[in-house]
Amino acid sequence: MIEIEGLTKIYENGVEAVRGIDLTVEPGEVFGLLGPNGAGKSTTIGMLTTTVIPTSGTARVAGHDVVREPLAARARSSVVFQESVVDASLTGRRNLELHARLWGAAGGRVDESAAMLGVADLLDRAVTTYSGGQRRRLEIARALVSNPDVLFLDEPTVGLDPRIRHELLDVIDGLQSDGRMTVLLTTHYLDEAERLCDRIAIMHLGAIVALGTPEELRAELGAEIVEIRVERDAERALARLREHGVAGDEAYVVGSTLTMPHPHGGTTATIAAVDALELGALEVGARRPNLDDVYLRLTGGRLADAA
Ligand SMILES: Nc1ncnc2c1ncn2[C@@H]1O[C@H](COP(=O)(O)OP(=O)(O)OP(=O)(O)O)[C@@H](O)[C@H]1O
Ligand SMILES: [Mg+2]
Repeated sequence: MIEIEGLTKIYENGVEAVRGIDLTVEPGEVFGLLGPNGAGKSTTIGMLTTTVIPTSGTARVAGHDVVREPLAARARSSVVFQESVVDASLTGRRNLELHARLWGAAGGRVDESAAMLGVADLLDRAVTTYSGGQRRRLEIARALVSNPDVLFLDEPTVGLDPRIRHELLDVIDGLQSDGRMTVLLTTHYLDEAERLCDRIAIMHLGAIVALGTPEELRAELGAEIVEIRVERDAERALARLREHGVAGDEAYVVGSTLTMPHPHGGTTATIAAVDALELGALEVGARRPNLDDVYLRLTGGRLADAA
């Protein structure tokens, strides 16, 4: 449903926002694009939704090339941008109607989409009177009125309180329950990605640095990780652990936390070795790796290396 080959964007100011990414998203898949600020996620969505012109490479949405057939590609997809695009001076209903008319969709979809997102009761109020969460729901409803095959969501839950965020996650999950729509979303919330996404790509500095199901990505760190928090200079603690053969090349530091995936000789022996070195650790523990660990190893660790 989405086919990307060697897709690259270099902005006029010389920033290489996306550096030759390859990606295929299957019909009905919910795909998550994760990465730190500036990784190139919004630029990628911009190219897939024809608002950003690629520098090189190709992308097809529902079989339509985004550069050669932009209207056809846009007609099969919908996007909720990171920034709000609804006209706040109009009512919710007017916003949905305008969008439906623009994309030649039947008016009936307006009420249906609004009901699906739980904003039916608000439709006749000006959007200026909506709360942040209500506006976000309206934006998703707006994206759905054209009955898209592919839905792009750029940080759909940013700035929402935890309760509204979880409600919205249920809604997004529900949208996809019939398996008909393909969804590509970006997020900084890894729990969200884990809950919603069939597969995930982690982007860093314009490149895809990891790709797989959440389980596959977690498995790269082994069954357990050992984590140490030190008062200061985690890099120095890591150097000592490496000198003594306790930590391997895979160990990494983010801030004051030192993480050892696949601990040599097992978790218990590693913790004992850490204690014996008297690193002045504030905390030493072992736990199952989660998606945060995968993300931090690939982005936080490398960010620190680059600094
Ligand atoms: N219109 C533009 N002109 C020039 N540079 C841009 C433009 N838009 C984005 N960039 C740059 O391209 C890089 C990627 O930006 P992008 O918005 O795609 O990142 P992102 O992954 O969506 O980040 P965030 O998580 O903060 O939303 C950044 O370095 C950004 O400053
Ligand atoms: Mg962005």
